[in-house]
Amino acid sequence: MRSLSQTQSLPASTSGRHVSFAPVIGMRRSLINRSWRAMKRAAVADVDTASPAPAPSQVALGAPLRSEFPILDQEVNGRPLVYLDNAATSQKPRVVLDALSRCYTEYNANVHRGVHALSARATNEYEEARAKVATFINAPSSREVVIVRNATEAINLVANTWGSANIKQGDEIILSVAEHHANLVPWQLLAARTGAVLRHVRLTPDKTQLDMDHFRSLLSPRTRLVSLVHVSNVLGCVLDAAYVAEQARAVGAKLLLDCCQSVPHMPVDVTSLGADWIVASSHKFCGPSGVGFLWGRYELLESMEPWMGGGEMIADVYLDASTYAPPPMRFEAGTPAIAEAIGMGAAAEWLRGLGMDRVHAYEEEIGTYLYERLAAVSPRVSVYGPRPGSCPRGRASLAAFNVAGLHATDVSTLLDMAGVAVRSGHHCAQPLHRELGVPASARASAYIYNTAGEVDVFVEALADTIKFFDDVHSGSAA
Ligand SMILES: Cc1ncc(COP(=O)(O)O)c(C=O)c1O
Repeated sequence: MRSLSQTQSLPASTSGRHVSFAPVIGMRRSLINRSWRAMKRAAVADVDTASPAPAPSQVALGAPLRSEFPILDQEVNGRPLVYLDNAATSQKPRVVLDALSRCYTEYNANVHRGVHALSARATNEYEEARAKVATFINAPSSREVVIVRNATEAINLVANTWGSANIKQGDEIILSVAEHHANLVPWQLLAARTGAVLRHVRLTPDKTQLDMDHFRSLLSPRTRLVSLVHVSNVLGCVLDAAYVAEQARAVGAKLLLDCCQSVPHMPVDVTSLGADWIVASSHKFCGPSGVGFLWGRYELLESMEPWMGGGEMIADVYLDASTYAPPPMRFEAGTPAIAEAIGMGAAAEWLRGLGMDRVHAYEEEIGTYLYERLAAVSPRVSVYGPRPGSCPRGRASLAAFNVAGLHATDVSTLLDMAGVAVRSGHHCAQPLHRELGVPASARASAYIYNTAGEVDVFVEALADTIKFFDDVHSGSAA
């Protein structure tokens, strides 16, 4: 049996008799038109069209949630895994694993290009995922959500589009000493290209958070952009985003917020945050790696030229010039991470179902417990960032720390032997570690599935680690 496309290429006459293919071609056209209409509808679907919110789960956070995360049920080095490296990447619930698996087992196809059923379904699921992310951050329209590889790519996108078009020699960009390298290096590259000047907000004298007086003193009519971390991945401090937005707006500067450590852990509502753009990575909020998003106000996205060129991001292509698709497609050149984006949508919807207020409340509780117990292990333990309760906007459920006399990597290696996964190093924040006067730190970071019991295991393993090294140093180790 011939396919429709084979039929269309048959000669118009067989056996000397004229055969009309018009009905077949007509049918094919109408199929194509219907598919394209569906695809376009999906591609510009506003959040109002996203599936209704799942009823907030009644499942308590912590222990009862753990069965949703199969990876947590394992032993490492003969001990039950205690995963406290969530600021680096979170684990994935079954709904996300199932979404990835369904994509590859049921409807894997390229998006926005094919008219066949699998492609139409893949396109719908991909655009639904965009709408779920938009709903998750309360974006007025899913057209404001650009799907990218990660937060790093999102910042590079803004630097290379808006930045290249709007930043000139002598313009100033305000960053901070506490930024992740992802929010430093793209602006350094832009400054090197344009002659712009980078200014950095310093820490408060106690080195626990950003100094807002210093921030205000850096603002001037030359300030074109403020790009700051919403929640620090080392200090755990939470930025007063509304204040920063108001101050930035007063001098006519744009505001980008690095929401990598806030989107997974607290309600983030772009309509009240005051930022012009936010960025986040899916892998930190229960979704797959290799995908993330840039949110931007639509008029702003519309004013931005494309960055990467290729398929998907065009309207019409000629040999020597092209016109471009409107946002968000303008910024999504080439085949996207389809299954991963769908997984990101599933994660956003699942977290929304849990209720981000509940997530935040649980993390405040376990974060405070983590901080207090860690700080009490030994007077030699220094925990960075504000004490819980000392910061009006709270602090994240992470604790970067050092033990005097021990290297952070030795500490985390010994913790790993006890089944406890924490990160050590500079956490992609070398300038911040220089400010803190240390080359590295260890960091324990909790999420919705961690329990107070796990925090206990961690601090006991840390106490054992300190004792072990003390014994080695004093020559009394067995
Ligand atoms: C605060 C912050 N910003 C940016 C990033 C970069 O995220 P990604 O590597 O997923 O782009 C991270 C990741 O650790 C982070 O914690």
